[in-house]
Amino acid sequence: MRTIAIVNQKGGCGKTTSVVNLAGCLAADGARVLVVDMDPQAHATLALGIDPDALEENLFDVLVDPGTPVPIDRIVLGVADGIDLAPSGIVLSALEQKLVAEQAEDRTERLASALASAQEAYDYALIDCPPNVGLLTFNALRAAREVIVPLETSFFAIQSVQKLLETIGLLSDRIAHDLSVRILPTLFDARTRYSRDTLAEIRDLFKELCFDTVIRQNVKLREAARRGAPLVSFARTANGALDYSALAVEVAAESVEDELDAPALGADTAVEPPRQVIVQFRNAEARDVRIAGDFNGWVPDKGVQTRREKAGGEQVWTKILELPPGTYQYRYVVDGDWREDPSNPEKAPGRVGERNSLLVVR
Ligand SMILES: Nc1ncnc2c1ncn2[C@@H]1O[C@H](COP(=O)(O)OP(=O)(O)OP(=O)(O)O)[C@@H](O)[C@H]1O
Ligand SMILES: [Mg+2]
Repeated sequence: MRTIAIVNQKGGCGKTTSVVNLAGCLAADGARVLVVDMDPQAHATLALGIDPDALEENLFDVLVDPGTPVPIDRIVLGVADGIDLAPSGIVLSALEQKLVAEQAEDRTERLASALASAQEAYDYALIDCPPNVGLLTFNALRAAREVIVPLETSFFAIQSVQKLLETIGLLSDRIAHDLSVRILPTLFDARTRYSRDTLAEIRDLFKELCFDTVIRQNVKLREAARRGAPLVSFARTANGALDYSALAVEVAAESVEDELDAPALGADTAVEPPRQVIVQFRNAEARDVRIAGDFNGWVPDKGVQTRREKAGGEQVWTKILELPPGTYQYRYVVDGDWREDPSNPEKAPGRVGERNSLLVVR
C-alpha cells in the first residue's frame, strides 16, 4: 500500500477535492483505495456521501486509546467501487486536544499503527488533513511516505507553501523517515493572466516537484462534493474528472518508475558515486540557516550535515552535501526566509524576479 498524505495548512486550496477525486480516478483504473479522513470538519466523509453525525464510530475510536485499540477495519465503510472510507467526525478535534495534553510518546504514531493492519487490503491510502499542522497532520505525515501539497495558483499561496515545506523538512527529521513531496497546482483559471503567470512561477520554483497535471477550476467538482461522489463516477468527461484522471496516471506511474529503477541501478548501469560538496553561509545576525534545493526535494536541510562556527564577528554555517555529479539549484532558508546564496554569483537562468543559486558538481 502506498500511503499519501494530502497536506497544506492553507484552507480551501483543494485538499479534500483532491483526495476524493484522486481516489475516484485511481479506483476507476482498478486500484483499491482507502480514504482516511483526518479532518474534524469531515468534508471528505461528506463528499463521499456519508453523514458523519449518523455514525456511531469513526477514526476517533481507532486513535484515542492505544491500550485497547479498535481495529481500523471496524470503522471502515465501503463507499463506492474500489473506495473504502475511514470516516471522521467533529470529535477528532477533541482527540487533537487530548493528544496535546497527554504528551504521550506515541501520540504521533497512532495513525501509522492503525494503518499497519490495512497494508495488504489496499493499493493506496489517501489521507485528508485539516488546514493546520497540528498533531492530526503530524500523525498523517508519520503514517505516509508521500505527500501531495495542493497549491492554489495565487501568489500568497506560494509564500506559505515554502513555510510548509520547511515544516515538513523538520518533521521528517524528527520522525526519521523521508517524505517524498509533490506540488499539485489547483484552482487554475486559464482565462486570467494572473493565474497563468502564477502557474509559471510555481513551475519555475518547484520544477520537477510539481506534477505536470494542473487542476483547473471546474464548478462540477463542487457539485460532485454536494452529491457525495467523485466527479469521475458520473461525469467522466468533465474537466475536473479529466484533470484528476491525468493526476491518477501520474501518481500511478511513479511507483512503476520506482520498480523499474530498482533493478536498473543494480544491473550494469554506471552510477557515478556522490561527491562531498561544502557550501558556507556567513552572517552576523541569523539564528537558523538551512539549505534546500532540488537535491533534497526542497525540504530544508534534508540529508544535509551542518557545522556552525564563530569567525570574527560572524557566524559561519557550513553545509556538507553528498551529491552525484550534476547541476543543482538551491536556496538558503535564513530564519524562515528563502534567499539566494549571497556568495555565489551563479544563478539559475530564465527566472524573473527571485532566482535560485546554481551549484555544479563535477
Ligand atoms: N478545481 C476546483 N474547481 C472548482 N471548485 C473547487 C476546485 N477545487 C476545490 N473547489 C471547491 O473549493 C472549496 C474548497 O475546496 P476543498 O474543500 O477541496 O479545499 P480544502 O483544502 O480541503 O479546504 P479545508 O482546508 O477547509 O479542508 C470547495 O467548495 C470545493 O468544492
Ligand atoms: Mg478539506
